[in-house]
Amino acid sequence: MRSTHYTVNAPLNLNIALVSDLHCYPYKEVLERVGEEKPDIIAVPGDIMENTANHSVTAPFNQPGFAFLSALTAIAPVYYSIGNHEGGMSEENRTLLKEAGITLLDNAFLHAHGLCIGGLTSPLPYEKHHAEKTPSPNLEFLSRFANEQGFHLLLSHHPEHYPAYIRSTGVELIVSGHAHGGQWRIFGKDIYAPGQGLFPKYASGMHENRLIVGRGLANTVFPIPRLGNPTEAVFIHLRRGES
Ligand SMILES: [Fe+2]
Repeated sequence: MRSTHYTVNAPLNLNIALVSDLHCYPYKEVLERVGEEKPDIIAVPGDIMENTANHSVTAPFNQPGFAFLSALTAIAPVYYSIGNHEGGMSEENRTLLKEAGITLLDNAFLHAHGLCIGGLTSPLPYEKHHAEKTPSPNLEFLSRFANEQGFHLLLSHHPEHYPAYIRSTGVELIVSGHAHGGQWRIFGKDIYAPGQGLFPKYASGMHENRLIVGRGLANTVFPIPRLGNPTEAVFIHLRRGES
């Protein structure tokens, strides 16, 4: 696992950990790494669990992801948005997340830590979570969020939403996952991501000083194992007067 650090110009100083796409894989090392960095907040743009529409977060299918999120709350406040594996989050699961101290932002925002923090929900229901084309997210919510006062941090599971819907808004910082760094990285190029296809532009890295895409935390084997593309924890340092 690698740690990647980015510094972003902002009206305030704040340290943000970005963790995504655990998919219920082992998390001990990630937890230790995040704890060492002592972030002020933790942003989680989805796909930590596997199927929260049809299984309890405490069931074996989801439990490692839920345990990971719960453990993160001991480090810093956790803000979590819904990925394509979590579409159709059940009411029971929402209650369990709340009781564990995890703030779910399901097409919702709040003001905290000097930021306006929003979560843009994946538009894919669990039954279609492997769809190759990503439909439009909730644009009414996105517009309402973007028009809110303050420095905006948006959790958006799908990075492909950035060029399609978010770039034209005034949202200052967007964190995403989903693309798993292109799964393979060969000759400096990310190879494939669902929703973007071959040689995806937004599978990792920082783009236009606004969009930061994490490579994810799962050593997934779909359809063949990661290659040249280690899992990644990302640390974003908002700093006054820097870029
Ligand atoms: Fe995803």
